[in-house]
Amino acid sequence: MQVFHTIADLRYYLLLQRLQGKSVGFVPTMGALHVGHLSLIEASRLANDLTVCSIFVNPIQFNNPDDLARYPRTLEADCVMLDIARCDVVFAPSAEEMYAEKPVLKFDFGDLERVMEGKFRPGHFNGVGIVVAKLFNIVQPERTYFGQKDLQQVAVIRRMMIDLGFQMEHNVCATLREADGLAMSSRNRNLTPDERQIASHIYKGLCNAKEALVSGKTTAEVQEGMTAHFAEQPAFRLEYFEIVHAHTLQTVEAIQPIGETALCIAAYLGKVRLIDNVIF
Ligand code: PAF
Repeated sequence: MQVFHTIADLRYYLLLQRLQGKSVGFVPTMGALHVGHLSLIEASRLANDLTVCSIFVNPIQFNNPDDLARYPRTLEADCVMLDIARCDVVFAPSAEEMYAEKPVLKFDFGDLERVMEGKFRPGHFNGVGIVVAKLFNIVQPERTYFGQKDLQQVAVIRRMMIDLGFQMEHNVCATLREADGLAMSSRNRNLTPDERQIASHIYKGLCNAKEALVSGKTTAEVQEGMTAHFAEQPAFRLEYFEIVHAHTLQTVEAIQPIGETALCIAAYLGKVRLIDNVIF
């Protein structure tokens, strides 16, 4: 496995690979890798000659400096995992390498970012848009791989690819879960053992909500059910629970056609902010 820290070295290496006719799959990450990330690497390996994984904790997508400071950084362990997973290339630039000059461009994703994550984390999707566009331009992959857990990120990037004419295939891979249902996330490692014990309350809430909607409850009743569910577990602070269309992310009042209803949630457990969703 090759590890690059500069844009120029990575570009040169990928140019040589492309001259040999190799296709490139790209998995952008912020490191602190878990099995969910490895499933994206695996999906890329199956469809491409070469898989590139970037590891970069992107400072401009954090609206909260404490969240940025707390974000786990485990480059050495990440590289061991990626090597075992037979990833071909790791790109781990410094912030100075990525932002030699502070970007002045601003992305505004309209209604897509006025809700959920975008509403509670102002500027987050501008930062995501800038770094992902930049990484796409550096790596120039044929295919990209993102996790469904970040549903709004998936939607925003899909929009960016359409608007800016990025031609690569945008693959969205299913959320991987721990045995108790907790969605795998780099942030889970910041949970205390006691918090970890109850963390799957979020997923249980989503499953109950889905069941209630399917059995004919109104969206208002389902919202009330979720409030009651979190009242049972005061260690959590529910930030939002939204019933939305899976592509537009706008609130819906009834179940949508198959695969188009999404239940999205964000909640704090202690200092850790967890998000999750189910689509049906
Ligand atoms: O999902 C993430 O880990 C990040 O938002 C991404 C896509 C790597 C951009 O920094």
